[in-house]
Order: sequence, then structure tokens, then C-alpha cells
Amino acid sequence: MNEKETHKLIGKLSRAVVFLTLIVFGLIITILVLFAFQKPVCGVPDEEDQWICGTPSLNPNYGEPAFEKGESLFNQNCASCHFPHKDMTGPALKGAVQRGEENAYVGWIYDFIRNEDSLVQAKDSYTLKLQNWHEDGVTWSHRSTLTNEEIDDLFRYVDPVFPY
Ligand code: HEC
Repeated sequence: MNEKETHKLIGKLSRAVVFLTLIVFGLIITILVLFAFQKPVCGVPDEEDQWICGTPSLNPNYGEPAFEKGESLFNQNCASCHFPHKDMTGPALKGAVQRGEENAYVGWIYDFIRNEDSLVQAKDSYTLKLQNWHEDGVTWSHRSTLTNEEIDDLFRYVDPVFPY
């Protein structure tokens, strides 16, 4: 093998190495992208799966008229600022009834949704704390006209474990 041929061979080999490296990188990136867009596995249904996997049938209230009503009440009145399951402009609403009962009093949710200002004026400590919930200081004075029954229906949709 003369020098010219050796050079040629080295050239060929290094091109092959670059080519193989590119293929391996390509494969790794493809696998990563596939993983990133993979749908979550909805094996063991728990209360969160309704939102993670988009299967409302996992909500025990699914199929009840209350669920349907709650869904449209939520979409019409709250969905612009709230997700049921993750924070947006306002906090995730799942568990909000329970948080209200634990941090304020039973029935707090109705007062808060219909007349938050009165709770602020009464210096209800949990309501005051919520005023600082948004890191940019965004607040919203809830002043809904929903009845207690409608609010219950709304949470039957939003919160798979409501009523507790
Ligand atoms: C314009 C935006 C907006 C709309 C519409 C809105 N909210 Fe809110 N919500 C907020 C913000 C912001 C907060 C944070 C506290 C605050 O500002 O009062 C909040 C807080 C809450 C909380 C307290 C959450 C907790 O963790 O205890 C509840 C409950 C709530 N909203 C329910 C509702 C319901 C039910 C509706 C629909 C009837 C609704 N909100 C409509 C913006 C909104």
C-alpha cells in the first residue's frame, strides 16, 4: 500500500466514522423526541388521571347530569383563568373546596366565589393570603352569581373526589 492509498483509506474511514456518529446522534434525538411526546401511561387510575390522561370517565361523577352541568358552568365562568388540575392565572381548582374548609370554614367556597370582597373586608385570613397567590400580584375579585348548587356541580366536574 503506498502513501496515497493509505491517505485515501484514512479519508474513507474518517468519513464513515462521521457518518456513523451522525446516525447514532440522529437515533438518540429521535428517541428523546418520541419520549417527550409520548402520552402518559394511564395504567392505574387515580383521581389525577382524569386530567392527566383526558379520560373524564375516571371521574366517579362522570355521566351524572351534575357532571355535565358542572363542565359547562366551569367552561363558561372559570376556564379563562383556571385549569382544574394545574395553575394558570388562578390556582388549580381541584381541592379548593377542601382547602377552604381547612384554612377558613365550611361553606367558605360559596362566599369566596360570590363575594370575595366581603371576605377581604372581614379580613378573613385565608382570603387575604390568596391575594398574594399570583407572583406578579394579579388578583381577581370573584363576584359570581352561581348558586350553592351550581358551585357544587362545578366542583363535581373539577374535582374527581368531590363531594368528599
Ligand atoms: C379573571 C380571572 C379569573 C376568573 C374568571 C376566575 N378566577 Fe378564580 N382566581 C383567580 C385568581 C387570580 C385567583 C387568586 C386569588 C385571588 O385573586 O382572589 C383565584 C382564586 C380562586 C380560588 C381560590 C383557590 C384556592 O386555592 O383556594 C377559587 C376557589 C376560585 N378562584 C374559584 C373560581 C371559580 C369557581 C371561578 C368561576 C366561577 C373563578 N374562580 C373564576 C382568577 C380568576
